[in-house]
Amino acid sequence: PQHRPLYGKHVLVTAGPTHEPIDPVRYIANRSSGKQGYAIAAAAAAAGARVTLVSGPVTLATPPGVDRVDVESAEDMAKAVREALPADCAVMVAAVADWRARDYVPEKIKKRGAAPPALLLEENPDILATLASRPDKPELVIGFAAETNDVLLHAKKKRRNKGADWIVANDVSGDVMGGDDNTVHVLYDDGVDSWEPMSKQGVATKLVERIADAIGDHDTGQ
Ligand code: C5P
Repeated sequence: PQHRPLYGKHVLVTAGPTHEPIDPVRYIANRSSGKQGYAIAAAAAAAGARVTLVSGPVTLATPPGVDRVDVESAEDMAKAVREALPADCAVMVAAVADWRARDYVPEKIKKRGAAPPALLLEENPDILATLASRPDKPELVIGFAAETNDVLLHAKKKRRNKGADWIVANDVSGDVMGGDDNTVHVLYDDGVDSWEPMSKQGVATKLVERIADAIGDHDTGQ
């Protein structure tokens, strides 16, 4: 019989980039394939959880047994996350755009032969920090931190500043973006696990094992 340690638990995962529209044909985005978040959603579903995957625009298939909610912008993602609550665990893997265009232009902006238009930005909500500060926050809130340098230092600060229980720090100085492998460090309140480089699927499986250890039901797993 399959081991289903997360049976009865609701796991919320955000994945992919967000697209912040400038006009009907242009947007601002981060580089994100969605592969790591989708792998985590798949692994959580395989472990028996009910999974809500709030996904920015990506070209991946929905993993079996996962409820997927498609969104475009950070504000849409924030709303979908609120609507998916309550959850027992949230894994925020999305590469949310830090800024959006302040003034959306409803018609395609034309080249006028003069100076290029100035793009004014305003800050997006921090979905992870907002979730972690809610009174009804999930029992376990996990953030991701993509860093190119001083990975552990930045990740430690991020765990504290955002109020996440765990931060999965990944070193993106190599060719992680869009690739199939990942090198991560998992920061808990009382220490760090540095995992050897492995596939994004491997990271997902291992992380879901840790999640099951933390919040899973250890008696009825079957
Ligand atoms: O600050 P930074 O973007 O590096 O933080 C990354 C973590 O915060 C990820 O877990 C990401 O999903 C989350 N995040 C968020 N909303 C934002 C920015 C980041 O949920 N606006």
